[in-house]
Amino acid sequence: MAPEELIRLAREAMTHAYAPYSGYYVGAALLCADGTVYQGCNIENASFSPTVCAERTAFFKAVYDGKREFAALAVCGGKGGTVTGYFPPCGVCRQVMREFCGDGFPVYLDGGPEGYQVKTLAELLPSGFEAARYMR
Ligand code: THU
Repeated sequence: MAPEELIRLAREAMTHAYAPYSGYYVGAALLCADGTVYQGCNIENASFSPTVCAERTAFFKAVYDGKREFAALAVCGGKGGTVTGYFPPCGVCRQVMREFCGDGFPVYLDGGPEGYQVKTLAELLPSGFEAARYMR
């Protein structure tokens, strides 16, 4: 699937956001190795800390369905759902990606008028914690 199509699906996912506190709408589209796509949005909470990001919503939906291999992720976000620049994944979401994805996993960052950027997971989370590598 072309990056532009995955970004289009992330933009669609963004419209599902529940963000009454920050006003930032975030969308993610996760392409599985088998070609299926899982979309996620941020879901906020009055107590703030239970808020979940768009990226984790997408990953957790996919993992629940038995998916374990992933090919790419697209992410977009912006105030009121308008994408004016890049909205890179937070550290917690990067760590969730690390659980299932390798160094070369590509993340497409939608920059709106700036086009999109591709970052690998290794670029986003260098020296990340990985059970297989450190717990021995
Ligand atoms: N947010 C995401 O959905 N993904 C990220 O990686 C960063 C932050 C959401 C959480 C919150 O609802 C809003 O953006 C502002 O922090």
